[in-house]
Amino acid sequence: MKKHPLEGESIPRSHTYRPSNLHIVVRKIAYEYQTSLEANRYWFNNDPIGTHFINALQSTFPDGELFFIQAAVDGARILRQHGSIDNQMEQDLKSFQQQEAHHSQQHRLWNKALIQIGYEKLALYDNNLHNFDVWSRKHIPAKLRLAVTAAAEHYTASIAYLFTYVNQDLLRKSDAPFSSLLLYHAMEEIEHKSVCFDLSQMLSRSYMMRIISLVFISFDLAINIFMRMRYLLKKDGLWGWRHKVKFWRFFLGRNGLLKGLLPRILQYLRPSFHPWRTDERKGIEHIFGDLMIRDHIEPFKLD
Ligand SMILES: [Fe+2]
Ligand SMILES: [Fe+2]
Repeated sequence: MKKHPLEGESIPRSHTYRPSNLHIVVRKIAYEYQTSLEANRYWFNNDPIGTHFINALQSTFPDGELFFIQAAVDGARILRQHGSIDNQMEQDLKSFQQQEAHHSQQHRLWNKALIQIGYEKLALYDNNLHNFDVWSRKHIPAKLRLAVTAAAEHYTASIAYLFTYVNQDLLRKSDAPFSSLLLYHAMEEIEHKSVCFDLSQMLSRSYMMRIISLVFISFDLAINIFMRMRYLLKKDGLWGWRHKVKFWRFFLGRNGLLKGLLPRILQYLRPSFHPWRTDERKGIEHIFGDLMIRDHIEPFKLD
């Protein structure tokens, strides 16, 4: 077995799980968000809690996804110095970067629209996240940033699964263009779900680092979403006890979000986990083919 030049371990070929018919398609979509927000502020089923959950979640994406790109690029640079990346991985990495850059750009427009209609503090949250990105590049090793990114990408793929398989109302009952962007984003998160995981495993197979990264990103996401959602609801005067009950029920209730999400998230802790042990592409196409046609979203390439 060839020894890993950095870790003294064998180089895992974990991306052999990659389906042979996988094409990471870089779709170009462009939507306008402000008019739709002004027309209906609670664009998910006229429900402030559900709407602001998605608003809060997506508001972490513009800078979050730039962090992912940088971590993948920095990790790949280290691997390249040791000649450990094949052409397929190089191509996947490039497509991943292009997809995430476009997601970041579209979610920034969504955020700007939210700021324009009165949620000004989102700009401050954005700024804090940007400052953390800059700080982390200087102070956190690429290997750890990539492990955190792989865990975060497990979250985005799991949320894509939640939106498309478990809780389809989140898309079905959302107005366009929000449903359109969410579906398009979910599809691309599925397509590139193993890129950072495979790169991270090539840099280090430390199981402890995988656990720490998942725990870190879980707290990070929970705190960020809670703070942003509380702000959005408070701003609308919807943070009284009745809304607080609805808020907690949305996450922890019998059909709450966590019940659908948690089993999927915990799969990451299986030592044999790989993102492509499950393939959701045909299922999503079957369930949401009508929305793809309606919103002119290029379907998966499955040949
Ligand atoms: Fe993304
Ligand atoms: Fe992603």
